[in-house]
Parts: sequence; structure tokens; C-alpha cells
Amino acid sequence: MAKKPVKMFVCQSCGAIYHKWAGRCEACGEWNTISEETRETSPISVLGHAGRMIQFTGLDGEISPPDRQSIGVSEFDRVLGGGLVQSSVTLVGGDPGIGKSTLLLQAACALSRQGQSVLYISGEESVNQIRMRANRLGLEDAEQRKNIQLAACINVADILSTLEKEKNISLVIIDSIQTMWLDTANGAPGTVSQVRAAAFELIRMAKQKEFALIFVGHVTKEGSIAGPRVLEHMVDAVLYFEGDRGHQFRILRAAKNRFGATDEIGVFSMTGQGLVEVANPSALFLAERHGHIAGSAVFAGLEGTRPVLLEVQALLAPKFGDSAPRRTVIGWDNARLNMLLAILETRCSLRFNGVDVYLNMAGGLRITEPAADLAVAAALVSALTHHSASPGSVYFGEIGLSGEIRQVPQADLRMKEAFKLGFDEVVLPKRIAHGNNKLSVPNGLQLIELGHISDLVSQFT
Ligand code: TYD
Ligand code: MG
Repeated sequence: MAKKPVKMFVCQSCGAIYHKWAGRCEACGEWNTISEETRETSPISVLGHAGRMIQFTGLDGEISPPDRQSIGVSEFDRVLGGGLVQSSVTLVGGDPGIGKSTLLLQAACALSRQGQSVLYISGEESVNQIRMRANRLGLEDAEQRKNIQLAACINVADILSTLEKEKNISLVIIDSIQTMWLDTANGAPGTVSQVRAAAFELIRMAKQKEFALIFVGHVTKEGSIAGPRVLEHMVDAVLYFEGDRGHQFRILRAAKNRFGATDEIGVFSMTGQGLVEVANPSALFLAERHGHIAGSAVFAGLEGTRPVLLEVQALLAPKFGDSAPRRTVIGWDNARLNMLLAILETRCSLRFNGVDVYLNMAGGLRITEPAADLAVAAALVSALTHHSASPGSVYFGEIGLSGEIRQVPQADLRMKEAFKLGFDEVVLPKRIAHGNNKLSVPNGLQLIELGHISDLVSQFT
């Protein structure tokens, strides 16, 4: 049946389709992202072949875990859930310049060293530029590179024909998906229709030839993968490579993972010789801490299965004129800070209304655990009273609206990490120590159990 060209208006951020142009996309709330596209549609009137259904009860028995290949960069493997899964598709997103290409080139070399063949296709850099980067990373060794093939290409049809002929490839890296172009799709590279069509074809090839596929995607300043948010639904895992370009730390974090947990992080440090894995992030995050400073408290947190200690810093400054007081947060939730300030004001009669409050999770890590409440409250009370917290103390515990200090998971792990790093005092929720669960407390570690936030305030007055 003849195909009919249809005019439509597509949001370049989320892929929503409209019949007429609008300034703002109602689906994702972005402004000026809707543009006109023409698509060929054919009316649905064909019947395909009937598929084979499998009886669910007939599927009992052993389920084998997915086939994984360890990359050899253990922080990367950890975030993936133990390695790359065969035929899986992963999207690695991050700001331009954060180190995505560096990370993937190092991963490619690590795989090549194990005898796995890797294809690195770059739409952004020439083959020579990639070779220069590899030299800079100290990867000149022919042994490390011998199973890697490089290509500078943006034409998906060419890539597909190349892949068709290849045998036994383990991994294909596409850097980046926004530069890929398919002549059968509309628009310029980077538009929703191009990104979606290019990704669809490449994913189909990955499933057919059973290689793992990694797409690199650039992220907008709002924090979503630029343009192809639609891509997040098409892939098995979405990883974000984050960090402040002014800092050396880089964090790899899973936002979606069909083959593993999403709360694991991988920590790297960007050096002159590329990314170096950080096996003990706590020591790194606490390296620049000064003891005996008002407004600072150490939080014993948990990122996935790994305990991570970091410094919470609070600063109170007189507010300017009649303006509303500022609440500025880096690395934590703004609403949660406002809630804690309200609890401290209402339940402990402390006053923060005449001051601007600045809160910072030192080291560039973004904390989402409610267990950080107690450390944040300690930093705030310490800043307000000008009394420093004991430099040997760590804090963890959630705070409820009535000021009660609530239990948090994995107290043992947090305490062990604090003890390992030389801390001698842990401030924690009361019910953890008095609950049914037997806590194993390292010898020499003192516990200070708090039931209510007013117990914390009395420590500082
Ligand atoms: P890159 O991997 O090109 O970032 P992306 O692919 O995410 O855009 O990283 C570029 C930045 O990393 C650049 O600012 C320089 C820095 N860098 C180092 O500090 N050390 C290194 O060894 C390399 C290769 C890059
Ligand atoms: Mg790059």
C-alpha cells in the first residue's frame, strides 16, 4: 500500500508528537523544543505471521544468569552489576568534557588485554585523535591495543555493513549517538528521529550478532540525555558519568539497569594519565578535611553495597537587606534541607530565619539517602552555635517530622568503615542499638545513641 507523508511536530527533548506547533512541550515542560518533521506512514492493514507462545508453567527449572564479561575496570564492572552482559545495550551519559571517551577507551583497552575484540566508532574525533589520546593515557603497548579496531564514521548504514561482516566482536562503542546519521530518517544528526532510528538499527544488529553495545550520549545542563530521552527506554542500562570539571573526582552511577542494582557507584579520579580507579573513596573524600571547625560533620553513608564517608559542610551568613533568606544546597536535596530547618526551628526552638544557609557535600558526591539527615542537622547546629563537632565522630540517622531519630539500614557496615578510617565515636539512632538485631561494634568505637533531635542539639550547647 502506498505510503503517505504526514506532517507532524515532534519535541526534540522527549519525542512527544503534536499536530500543531507549540512553544512549550506539555509532556516534558521544555521550551522551544518542538519542530516540524515529515514522516511516511502506511495504514495498518496487514497481518503478520502468528507468533509462537510459550506456556509459562513449562518454563520451570534452573534459570541461568546472563552471560557476563568482566571489563577489567572494576569500578565500571561494579556499576554494571558484575560486568558487561552479552547482547546488552548501555547508554553512558554525561556532560561534554567530563571524560566519557576517556573512560570507554580505557575500558576498550582493558577488554582487548583479555583477548576480547572491540570496535570503537567515533563520530566526534578522527582516528588520529583517538590514537593520540591512547598515547596520552599510556596505552601505547601493542598488546593492549591489538584487539581494538577504530573507525571515524557517522553513517549508520556504513557501520551496519561493517558490523555485518565482522565475527566474534565482544563490544561496539558508539561515541556519540548524537553524531550518528541514517539516510532513511528525517532531520539532522542529534534530532529525536535520527537518534531513535540510528539507535534502533544498531540495537537490532547487536541482538542479531550478539555483541554488547555502548552508546555515549551528551547531557544537557538540566541533567537529561540531550534530545534522545526516548533512548532511555530502548536500552538495558543507563549510566551517568558525573563530576565537577573543577574537581578530580568522577562518579559513574546507574540510573537504570536491567541486569543489576541501580544504587552502586564507581569512583574515579581524573589525572594527567587518564582515569584512575578509587578503591577507597572515603579516604579521598575526607583528605582535605580540617578538624575542629564549626559547621562540619562527617556522614557515614552507603552507596550501593559500599560504605562511603564524607564531610557535610554548613555555612550560615547574615542575609542581605529585606530579601528572603537563601537556602543553597550542593550535593543534597533542597526540600530536605528546608524540612530539617523547619524541624530544628519547631522542635528545638532554634532560629535560622535571619540567615542565609549554604550546605555542601564535600567532594562532589550527590547524596540521596535520608540517613544523611543527622549529619546535616549536626553541621547546621554546629554552624549556628559555633561549637565544632568532635573530629573523631561520624553521624548517621534519619530524622522524622516530630524530631525523632529513625533507624537506617546497614549500621554495621557504616561503623566498620568509620573505625577503619580512624574515627572513635559514632552518633546513631537509639533504636538500632536497642533493637532485636545484634550489632557488631568494633572494639574501641564508642556509640552515642540519640532518640530525638533535641539530644543532638544538647551536644552542641
Ligand atoms: P573526554 O573523555 O574527551 O570527555 P567527553 O568524551 O566526556 O567529552 O575528556 C576530556 C577531558 O578530560 C579534557 O578536558 C581533558 C581531560 N583529560 C585529562 O585530564 N587527562 C587525560 O588523560 C585525558 C585523556 C583527558
Ligand atoms: Mg568524547
